[in-house]
Amino acid sequence: MNKSPIILGIETSCDETAVSIIQDNESGIPKILSNIVSSQFDIHKEFGGVVPELAARSHVEKINLIAKKALDESGISLDKVSAIAATSGPGLIICLSVGLNFAKSLASSLKVPFIGVNHLEGHALSPKLQTNINYPYLLLLISGGHSQYLIVNGLGSYTRLGTTIDDALGEAFDKTAKLLGIEFPGGPKLEKFAEKGDPDKFNLPKPIINKGGCNLSFAGLKTAILKITNNITTEKEKYDLAASFQKTIEEILYVKTKIAFKEFLKKFSINKRSFIVAGGVAANNGIRKKLIQVSDENNFEPIFPDFKLCGDNAAMIALVGLEKYKLKKFDTLSLQVNPRMMLDKDAKYLKGSGVKY
Ligand code: KG4
Ligand code: ZN
Repeated sequence: MNKSPIILGIETSCDETAVSIIQDNESGIPKILSNIVSSQFDIHKEFGGVVPELAARSHVEKINLIAKKALDESGISLDKVSAIAATSGPGLIICLSVGLNFAKSLASSLKVPFIGVNHLEGHALSPKLQTNINYPYLLLLISGGHSQYLIVNGLGSYTRLGTTIDDALGEAFDKTAKLLGIEFPGGPKLEKFAEKGDPDKFNLPKPIINKGGCNLSFAGLKTAILKITNNITTEKEKYDLAASFQKTIEEILYVKTKIAFKEFLKKFSINKRSFIVAGGVAANNGIRKKLIQVSDENNFEPIFPDFKLCGDNAAMIALVGLEKYKLKKFDTLSLQVNPRMMLDKDAKYLKGSGVKY
């Protein structure tokens, strides 16, 4: 086995076509040799959300080019690559299939191992591309499709402490943005809107704030915002509503993170306690600030991925690929995509009416 393995990672689970090449390093922090992300914002903008068929077609059109770009930028020739890793789930089935099949063909023609990667595990481990972190650690994963508190026990070993019982946080940002007339993808732009408004102008609900442990709920918030948007007319009121939404989210995460800290400490009384926040929404500055505050108050070390590693990328997929490669956890070419893949396979499904959380 190569002493410093080189992994080519591929990500096509949603609307980003991404390829990255990383190399293992004695420091324990792999070197990112290239990390190309091609977003499809322009394709989906006019529909106000991702259209799976258009996304898959775009992946098919671009994957070769993006892979070539990643190789060129890394300065690595294909014969030096030790293994090919690709996202196998969760995500949009026809999009996942493009990347996975491309990876299988490449691995088989190069005669190197092929490794399927859980996209969520990519987010979960992403800060390891910048810093060494010891297991176990507490993770808050906040993306467009997921919002969960998890204990990361080790590679492939997760214990879910809490999850959203309805919308994901990124989804709440995107839906609120849409109601405010902000174009897709709204999350990052909503944050900019919020900076111009008065956060105390509107009093918004904080669903299940006093119950359900560190489970989360955002759907009621969206309904409240819909009612308010029906009655506002000025730009100033829009900024105020965005600021009030941002503040409410920060307060919900403050309270729920404190609960998650307690639950983590019930299981592990360790001195070095790391709290990793990952996923697209981890790029939000206000949320970062609030989570740093609650971490400082509770003696946890907060760790965020670099801004460019918060959203979907292939470096995080290559990273999980590298960890699996070192343990010789390879897949066969018969591996299928799994659009509903989870991190904690024993966790209960907590969505829908009548569910007990
Ligand atoms: O992790 P990600 O790139 O894709 C998924 O795996 O879902 O997350 C995308 C989500 C979108 O909902 C996007 O609006 C949100 O992350 N997002 C943000 C910010 N940047 C991205 N939400 C709030 N503030 C931001 N700065
Ligand atoms: Zn993601």
